[in-house]
Amino acid sequence: MNDDPTAGADPAAHAAGADPAAHAAAAEADPAAVADAAVIRRMRWFDIAPIAALDAAIFGADAWSEAYFWSELAAPGRHFIVLDAAAAGNAASPGLLGFAGLSVSGPQADILTIASHPDARRQGVGRRLLDALLDHARAHGVEAVHLDVRADNAAAQAMYAADGFVELDRRPGYYRDADAVLMRALL
Ligand SMILES: CC(C)(COP(=O)(O)OP(=O)(O)OC[C@H]1O[C@@H](n2cnc3c(N)ncnc32)[C@H](O)[C@@H]1OP(=O)(O)O)[C@@H](O)C(=O)NCCC(=O)NCCS
Repeated sequence: MNDDPTAGADPAAHAAGADPAAHAAAAEADPAAVADAAVIRRMRWFDIAPIAALDAAIFGADAWSEAYFWSELAAPGRHFIVLDAAAAGNAASPGLLGFAGLSVSGPQADILTIASHPDARRQGVGRRLLDALLDHARAHGVEAVHLDVRADNAAAQAMYAADGFVELDRRPGYYRDADAVLMRALL
């Protein structure tokens, strides 16, 4: 099995990346259908620039740099994925609808990041990414998955709770302007 995220596929096929104009055009057609038809695949090197741009638009000052994505994709036990509408052969491709990353260490795993495109929210993108990470964890013998989420992030907490995560603890001042909620799911 080739686990190298820098290998394979054609970068030109994904050059549109997370282009907002292309995404808006496709979303006008039928946003839910676009999300349903999109496929989950491993994040590759050619995804890093568009994903880092999307990450910056979503997380602002807490966003990861391109260099950080490169180092994370190369680190042991990492599993990074994207939800790709272009890979589904959609003619009006909006590109990348979301991304997520997991770190597996023996029977434990941590969700490192997860986000859906701002124009593709509430269409099941987040849940598909989360379910894919949990499937990967189960397949690798993981027994417990942990994550930190901002205490004021009700949307993400609701998504995690619906997938079996429960609050374990709070970390005051974990983020520069918010506490963290530590959540865990037992698989
Ligand atoms: C959190 C996030 C990933 C959810 O993505 P999404 O694609 O909108 O999620 P889905 O459409 O798959 O929704 C899954 C569930 O999450 C919950 N949820 C999502 N958005 C919500 C909102 N605004 N309010 C309340 N619950 C919400 C719901 O339980 C939803 O299920 P439902 O639609 O059946 O009610 C998305 O809002 C996001 O990218 N936020 C910014 C980045 C972020 O906060 N990441 C998490 C860091 S810990």
